[in-house]
Amino acid sequence: MGYGIDEIQRIRRILSEKLDPGRYEHTLGVSFTCAALAMAYGEDIDKAEMAGLLHDCAKRFPESVLIEKCKKNGVYLSDAELESPAVVHAKYGRYLALKKYGITDEDILNAISYHTTGRAGMSLLEKIVYVADYIEPRRFKAPDLKEIRALAFKDIDECMLKILDGTISYLDGKRSHIAPDTLSAYEYFKGLKK
Ligand SMILES: [Fe+2]
Ligand SMILES: [Fe+2]
Repeated sequence: MGYGIDEIQRIRRILSEKLDPGRYEHTLGVSFTCAALAMAYGEDIDKAEMAGLLHDCAKRFPESVLIEKCKKNGVYLSDAELESPAVVHAKYGRYLALKKYGITDEDILNAISYHTTGRAGMSLLEKIVYVADYIEPRRFKAPDLKEIRALAFKDIDECMLKILDGTISYLDGKRSHIAPDTLSAYEYFKGLKK
C-alpha cells in the first residue's frame, strides 16, 4: 500500500502539535532528506518521506516513561536495549507508528525500529532513514559532516560504515554501552567492502 500526500500531510499536522519545535524541525529535515536519498537510490519517495516523518514520533517522552509505556503495551525490550535507553524511543516509535498512525508497511516499521542502532542486513529504506537522521540540514554537531553528507549520495553503504565507525569510537571513548545491533551492523558493512 502506498502513502500519498494526504496521509503525509495528516501525519505532519499531528506531529507539528505533539513534538516540540526543535524536534519537529529535525523531523521535517529527516523526512525531506529521506526523500532526496530515495531519489538518488531509486527507493519509493513517499515511503521514505513517511518513514523519516515518523522516525522520532516517540521521542517526546522521557526515557523512564518510554520504558513504562513499552511494558504496559507489551513492546519487548531486550536487556541490551534497557541498558542503552536512547534506543527505546525507536522501539516504542515502531509501536506508535503501527497502532496510532496506522502504518502497516513492515519496511517503514523496521526503519523506525532500527534508526538509532542500525543492524546487519539493513534494507535500503532502513539505511536511508539512518543516514538522513545523521545528515539532515539542521545537524551541526557530528564531526566530518561535510564529507559524510557527500558520501551519503555517492555510496550509502560506505556512508553507513563511516557513521557506524564514528559512533562506535565515540561511545567507546565515553565508556558507554554499545548496542549489539550497532556492532553487528558495523561488521556487516565492513564485510561488504571485501
Ligand atoms: Fe531518534
Ligand atoms: Fe532523529
